[in-house]
Amino acid sequence: MNNNLQTPKQTHSKNIIWHQASVTRDSRAELNGHKSAILWFTGLSGSGKSTLANAVNLALFKKGIKSYVLDGDNIRHGLCKDLGFSDTDRKENIRRISEVSKLFLDAGVIVLTAFVSPFRQDRDTARSLVEKNDFVEIYCAADLDICEGRDPKGLYVKARAGEIKEFTGISSPYEEPLCPDLKLDTGKQKLDKCVEIVLEKLLSKKIINT
Ligand code: ADX
Repeated sequence: MNNNLQTPKQTHSKNIIWHQASVTRDSRAELNGHKSAILWFTGLSGSGKSTLANAVNLALFKKGIKSYVLDGDNIRHGLCKDLGFSDTDRKENIRRISEVSKLFLDAGVIVLTAFVSPFRQDRDTARSLVEKNDFVEIYCAADLDICEGRDPKGLYVKARAGEIKEFTGISSPYEEPLCPDLKLDTGKQKLDKCVEIVLEKLLSKKIINT
């Protein structure tokens, strides 16, 4: 298996030639003592994606593992600040994050993405960009009523009042993963337990070894 970034099949211009990197992903993994991967957290707003991703990130950091969180709300302050919440904009949001995640993967980092990513097709496209073992889909499956009850940012109240259009779970769909690598009841399950389950998954997939 060639672990370098692959030459993409399509580019906008014929005059852009792929440059092969001299440091390979394998050599980074050897240096780091762990593999890289994309941990893709998906679920409703308020389901605990960011909380869980950050807790896993901290646990990895304490083990000396290189990891990084890409968080929906934060990325929408910068890289994706030109995007709203129409279906088209969400698709573009996830496309950009998928490509950025792929770069992190090549850089030898375990990247944890915390995005609602409501559309199955967009998540499947993200998965298709990398090798099978590189992508771990983690469904934060808190029920809508629990997310709405938490409403940490007061957005569900606004969505119910019609002040926010196209709000996921209220006026815009969320397509549940059919075969996630992990399905966690982040509505009821304790955070520590969820972290433990994610770390066990990384161990069983031999992404980390400690
Ligand atoms: S995604 O659908 O494109 O994946 P993303 O994860 O980047 O969404 O952003 C979701 C966050 O933006 C939510 O956690 C919430 O705080 C905020 N938000 C604001 N408007 C909406 C909306 N219409 N639907 C969902 N989340 C929204």
